[in-house]
Amino acid sequence: MLNHGGRLNSAAQEYNIPVEDWIDLSTGINPEHWPIPELPSVCFSRLPETDDGLIGAAQQYYQADNLLPVAGSQAAIQLLPLLRGKSRVAVPEIGYAEHAYQWKKSGHELVFYQTPDIEKIINDIDVLILINPNNPTGETYTREQSLRWHQVLQSQQGWLIVDEAFIDCNEANSLVSFSQQPGLIVLRSIGKFFGLAGVRSGFVFAEQTLLEEMNEKLGQWALSGISRYLTKKALLDTTWQQKNRVLLSRSSEMLHDLIVQKSGLTPSGTTLFKTLMHPQAEYIFELFAQQGVLIRLLDNKQGVRFGLPKKEEWLLIRSIFEQVFKRINKAEEIEKRKLA
Ligand SMILES: Cc1ncc(COP(=O)(O)O)c(C=O)c1O
Repeated sequence: MLNHGGRLNSAAQEYNIPVEDWIDLSTGINPEHWPIPELPSVCFSRLPETDDGLIGAAQQYYQADNLLPVAGSQAAIQLLPLLRGKSRVAVPEIGYAEHAYQWKKSGHELVFYQTPDIEKIINDIDVLILINPNNPTGETYTREQSLRWHQVLQSQQGWLIVDEAFIDCNEANSLVSFSQQPGLIVLRSIGKFFGLAGVRSGFVFAEQTLLEEMNEKLGQWALSGISRYLTKKALLDTTWQQKNRVLLSRSSEMLHDLIVQKSGLTPSGTTLFKTLMHPQAEYIFELFAQQGVLIRLLDNKQGVRFGLPKKEEWLLIRSIFEQVFKRINKAEEIEKRKLA
């Protein structure tokens, strides 16, 4: 299985720093998760029921009707490749690697693309996977652009799959409201904006026949009663959502400014994370880890990704950024002098 962020226990062992002393910036999820309320005991004692109000809450939050709750958007990422015959599937060269991994595992042919390639390959593929906004690059696609590609794919009986796991902070480009169209599949997550990665909950938006097929394959009780209860409550909590959009956006600007100030480089990313491409990415990762801060080293080792710190972590994070980039910049200067 692939390696993702959030493996704090193994970092604690490797660097010999107790788990509770780490600051975890490796996952790119809201560090101040939606607050967990007291749970009714029926969530534990009774089997989950589908008429519990979750669907209505989700339809209200997403402003779309044709949806299916799943145990995290990951569950849909794993299932979709099983629902098509052998296909040519275009996946981003840099992006959440589970898409490529799952389609390949099911015997499909992969085509890796950089965004400018899409126009060139669109007529020769069956499935296009867009991650909007992309994790980790932060690249975005407008509605017009995505819908144009969908039209081409639809005329070829193909699929456009849009992974919108990170879109909640700015939904202008979301395609959920178009997803009743055949061949358009949109994935959403409760893990990122709501910070509830452990609840394992998300939604698929697609035409009804495909949703029914997915539901059938996933079987009974795909989400636990606790997941359904927490997801419903979080989706209905518009006061928390509004407040957090503002807080996250402020925190995101602060992180952007800190990275620019200390590294002299401009990161890309989304509201929830910033990605810094850097020739010394591995060394940066190492220096942060030595200080008990877990960040994400990109799979190609050419950059690092920072999630947002919690309110009380900012002071320490600022000082660790100062120390780390002092060493990085000094090492670069020595290298330059050697070359001169
Ligand atoms: C772009 C993207 N999509 C989907 C997922 C899966 O998230 P979840 O299964 O928690 O909804 C992730 C997880 O990191 C991700 O980065």
